Amino acid sequence: MRYLLGLDIGTSGAKALLCDQDGAVRATALVEYPLLSPQPLWSEQHPADWWAGARAALRQVLAQSGIDGSQVAGLGLTGQMHGAVFLDAAGQVIRPALLWNDQRTAAECAEITSTVGAARLIELAGNPALTGFQAPKILWLRNHEPQHYARIVQVLLPKDYIRLLLTGASATDASDAAGTLLLDLRSRDYSDELLQRLDIPRAWLPRVFEGPQITGGLLPELAAELGLPVGLPVIAGGGDNAAAAVGTGVVRAGLVSSSIGTSGVIFAHANTIALDPLGRLHTFCHAVPGQYHLMAVTLAAGGAFRWWRDAIGTRNLRLETWSESEGVDAASPKPQASSPTYDDLTSLAATVPPGAEGLLFLPYLTGERTPHLDPLARGAFVGLTARHTLAHMSRAVMEGVVYALRDGLEIMRSLNVPISQIRVTGGGARSSLWRQMQADIYGVEVATLAAEEGPAYGAALLAGVGAGVFATVGEAVERCVRVAGVTQPSPADSARYNAVYTIYRDTYAALRTTMHRLAEL
Ligand code: XUL
Repeated sequence: MRYLLGLDIGTSGAKALLCDQDGAVRATALVEYPLLSPQPLWSEQHPADWWAGARAALRQVLAQSGIDGSQVAGLGLTGQMHGAVFLDAAGQVIRPALLWNDQRTAAECAEITSTVGAARLIELAGNPALTGFQAPKILWLRNHEPQHYARIVQVLLPKDYIRLLLTGASATDASDAAGTLLLDLRSRDYSDELLQRLDIPRAWLPRVFEGPQITGGLLPELAAELGLPVGLPVIAGGGDNAAAAVGTGVVRAGLVSSSIGTSGVIFAHANTIALDPLGRLHTFCHAVPGQYHLMAVTLAAGGAFRWWRDAIGTRNLRLETWSESEGVDAASPKPQASSPTYDDLTSLAATVPPGAEGLLFLPYLTGERTPHLDPLARGAFVGLTARHTLAHMSRAVMEGVVYALRDGLEIMRSLNVPISQIRVTGGGARSSLWRQMQADIYGVEVATLAAEEGPAYGAALLAGVGAGVFATVGEAVERCVRVAGVTQPSPADSARYNAVYTIYRDTYAALRTTMHRLAEL
């Protein structure tokens, strides 16, 4: 038996996963590290924390599995996308890394757009300049910390800094490199035009590999420390979304995933480049060689439901009393110590028909990416009447999240991306109500997976391809990824939701000015 390792340099921690050659997960380990926000809009981490977390997670996962490290055939890397790690000539980290959710680079994004041209940027790199991407971070350093900028000899993405320390090799993969905004999507290599216009030396950037390619071997001193073979193949891997898609089998045309975590992501496989001329969707390379993907991001998805749970939790009252149409049962106040659970809220929501009897919720609690690209978008309940209860509001929150995700799906449909099955993950997959809602609102069958382990699992499967355990990514998925169940849309409920969705789609435009005026108060 041969074993595979996946390592995910996430935002909350480093996760290591070990699976066997049939894809069965034997152990996982998560080591958390802090997220720093030294100033408003800034989001940073110390690469040294990732490195300590990565080594600890790898040691723990091996110890927990009880497997002899000599049987491990490959290690695949994945992680948070878009971050910038600046290194000097001695290979030292110059300053803390700027992360994907850092918002300080608005001026640099405007600079990139005017230098390159908005349409040319989308044509070459597949995306408009967004504050999270890596290229504006490099320009920010030039504009704001020239003493640091002057020392740069290398700029790496988070997982690729860990690769450098594991193997000594400076390398990345096409999916993560696409998130720098410096990649030419067609050649799957950096664009000379973009590099020249932005005055960024190619020598600063790591060589680009395809997801399953070997980028180097584990250095002897680390092999001894981690209990793994010297020269263990370290595979290019992928950005966290692309690697997660490998782990859910979204590696061929027609397959799409819908993940409801804190944020929500619709991810579609594409055989060829499909560009949204308005830049509302991301188009990136896939971790599957030569393939692409489109991605729509709703910033508050599960996060909106958590906000709702926490907001009403402060009432400290038993929920059952609220599910009755008459409101609180005064005879028995029944105070409750803890907040309502998600199950409490979904049970309540299930008592109300699709469409929440004319109540809409816009989940733009932290602004919105797809489709509005508007940091000043705001959340709203619209259509409240005296007959609406907590049950209607809970259902409206869940439906609003799915309408927001459907907005992304509709842009994909308009670009002729085929959509035959949507694989659901995250909190939206665990609730049967949310699963049915997704099937009905998307109008497509939704599937759940037997095992859902996130990006580290996809990285381990890519490692299996690189190490020769599987011939192709397709074969890895065929052997390891199992659909557990399928939910079909109900035609009657789909029709009802479609009617509501047409109203939902008009609501942001109707409220936009009000949202902005409130945000700017
Ligand atoms: C993708 C994105 C996030 C990060 C963090 O564009 O910004 O999904 O990869 O995980």
